[in-house]
Formats: sequence, C-alpha cells, structure tokens
Amino acid sequence: MPIARQRIVLPKSSWRLALTGLASGDLWEGDAVERLENAFIAAIGVPAAVAVPSARAGLSFILESLNLEPGAEIICSAFGYPVVPHLVATKGYTLRFADCELETLGMDPEALARAFEQGNPRAVIVTHLYGIPARIREIAEVVKAHDAYLIEDCAHCFSAAVGGQKAGSFGDFGYFSFETSKMINTMGGGMLTVRDLEMAGKIRERARQEPQRDLGWLAKRLGKTTFEATVTQPLVFGASVYPALRLASRSTDEDDRFASGYQADEISMKGRMGRYTNYQAQLGLQQIEAIESLIERRVANAERLIGQLRDRVHFQQPVGADTRADYMLVTALFPRMPEMARQLLQRGVDTKHQYMRDCAALLEGVGEFPNAARAEREALHLPAYPQLTTAQIDSIAERVKDALDALGTDSGAS
Ligand SMILES: Cc1ncc(COP(=O)(O)O)c(C=O)c1O
Repeated sequence: MPIARQRIVLPKSSWRLALTGLASGDLWEGDAVERLENAFIAAIGVPAAVAVPSARAGLSFILESLNLEPGAEIICSAFGYPVVPHLVATKGYTLRFADCELETLGMDPEALARAFEQGNPRAVIVTHLYGIPARIREIAEVVKAHDAYLIEDCAHCFSAAVGGQKAGSFGDFGYFSFETSKMINTMGGGMLTVRDLEMAGKIRERARQEPQRDLGWLAKRLGKTTFEATVTQPLVFGASVYPALRLASRSTDEDDRFASGYQADEISMKGRMGRYTNYQAQLGLQQIEAIESLIERRVANAERLIGQLRDRVHFQQPVGADTRADYMLVTALFPRMPEMARQLLQRGVDTKHQYMRDCAALLEGVGEFPNAARAEREALHLPAYPQLTTAQIDSIAERVKDALDALGTDSGAS
C-alpha cells in the first residue's frame, strides 16, 4: 500500500462543534480562547500567551510591538520559511542572515555571532525546524550578549525542549502555528508566548482589533481541511492520489511540482488574518489533552526509522542528550534528492521537499550561505507520522535502502 507524505486529520468533533456553536452562538467569542492561552502558559512555561490569527500574523504583531527604529537590522536563519524574512523586509527592517548548521538544520550560533560582529542587529528570529530544537541555549547567549530581542519560531513544535525547558520559553517571544499540518491543528490560527506582560497586553489588544470571522470563512476552512484529510487518508491516497503522482512524475524530467509548502507566489497574509475564534480554541483544547501520546508515537516512529537508516543516511537530529524533539517531520539530506524522491515514489513512498528554502538565495545582495543552499537542494522529508504502524516504518526503511542501492549511493551519513 502506498504511503502518503503526510497525514492531515480533521480535528475531532469539528463538524459537531461547528453546528452546536452555530446553535448556541459561541462560535466566535467565548472563554475557550483564554483557556487555550492558559494551557499554553502552563505547557510551555511562560508568563503570557496570546492567541493570534496565524503564526505569521503573530510575528507581524511582535515586530510591531518592538517599536524598533526604521531600517533596524533583524537576523533570520538563511534556511527557513520565506514568509518570515519577507515579513521582516515588508515592515521596513534590514534583513541579515546567519547560516544553518547541518545537524539540527537550525541557525548556527557561531554564524550568528559573526553576523552580530558585522552590524548592529536588534532582533534575531530562530526557527526550531520540523520540531527539532535549534542550539537555542548557545543562540540565546549570543543574543543576550548583544542586548537584542530573541524571537523563537515554534511553528513546528509543541513540546520540544532543551534541558527540560520548552522551545518558546527561551526568547522574549515565541510563535506557534495551528495550520492543518502542524502539531496542533485548529484549521488555522496560532499562539504567541510572551515574556513581558505589558507587551503581551499590547499584542492582545492588537489581535482583538482583527475583524471577526464569519460563516463563509468557517465553511471554507471546514471544506479545505475535510478535503486534505480525505486525500491523505490511506485508501483514498492509494486509490487516486498516488497513481496520479506516479503518472505526473513520469511525464516530467526535473520539476518541483511535488515540492510542498511554500511557492514563490504564496508570500501573503491572505486568509491568515482575522480574530482567532472560540470555536478553534475548543478544537485546540481537545488536542492538547491528547497530545502527549500522539507525540510519543511520533517520536517512536521517527527514532525507529532513523535508527534503521543512520549508517547510510544523514538525518537532521537533535543535539545533546537533554534535548526533546517533536519530529513534526523526519528530514534526511540526500545529495541526489530529486532522484531519491522519484525512486521512493516508484516504491510507494511519497515524500515532501522544498518546504523550507535557502531564503538568502531568493533575495539579492544578502550574501551566500552554503549550508542553507545544501539543505534546500538535499532535504527530503520521509513519512514517519504517528498514524503509521511499526511495520510500515520498517517497510519505509527497507524501501529507502532499496532506493539507495538502485542509485548506487549512500546519502553521506555522518
Ligand atoms: C517555520 C514556519 N514559520 C512560520 C510559518 C507560518 O505559519 P502560519 O501559516 O500559521 O502563518 C510556517 C508555516 O508553515 C512555518 O513552517
């Protein structure tokens, strides 16, 4: 049976809660938003949390609240989600990049220290990519030494931690995403974690100014998520999506038709603004209750897959025995990534690539970042989501070995 690159799940009770909310009138406003914020305060270990329309809207509110002078320098990781540097630039700040390192694929603290020497950055945005913490303790030290703000992009995390401290609590701010493919899926939305209570209050006021959602929005979100859940459901994927992918992969040579996530024309806030709803918060609260066992399963699958392939494949990995990763995605670097993706598709394993990009290469005159360039060229996400059985994980590992044999290569395991 072919295996889809990811599995989107329609949040439990989403249709029922929509209908009861419609009847009782608490779809948009109610106490669930504050309860979800409180659940984050407790789970991440921070003084304040603010629900926002999306992670990117949250970042936008953070940048507004910092009140930096126009043109102030902000450092982003060169390998990351292009919307992040794009937002920084559209706010009128000067973008600087620091390269990633190849173990965590997160920002390299030494590259960050060098970036500070070359200018006067006022803030740093660091991403815990795919749920694997960056070297956040070292990064936080560098940022503190320069008296700058630290913003953690936790779009891919919920419980990732270093030394028992959760991602999202090291910086002045953290932002989490609740899009459909993320650790918590409330069909959109996000959460900010904030160290300073006064700033949290200002951001909450800003978030409250967003227009209230309406039934058209709800119908669209339910429709889109139901569709995503249907096409990634194993039977439907095997019967219709997989054959279509195979057909399409035969008819083109080099393409990134199968690249997932970001496309160049997608940088926009469209659909990502609007006040976070009581309805979504109810979905989030339900998921937080059950998330630990899901994360355990996710980690077990990821570690099993990585364990079987480690000798032959370079995987993104957490550093340090006291680091806890969420493994939203399992990521390997393959020097011949497009061929590997094709080989795996032929063997019934669908994969995801070009989700994160070498952001510096998308802009002009901001320098070259060799690790980010390599990560963009080589990163391939193998399916290891929690719904997969142990037997399926073992079978994916076998199919990867088989594909490596067919290519006559290993991926340069370190
Ligand atoms: C690393 C990263 N940061 C930020 C975002 C933006 O999240 P949202 O879609 O909730 O705005 C994403 C979305 O995929 C992401 O992957």
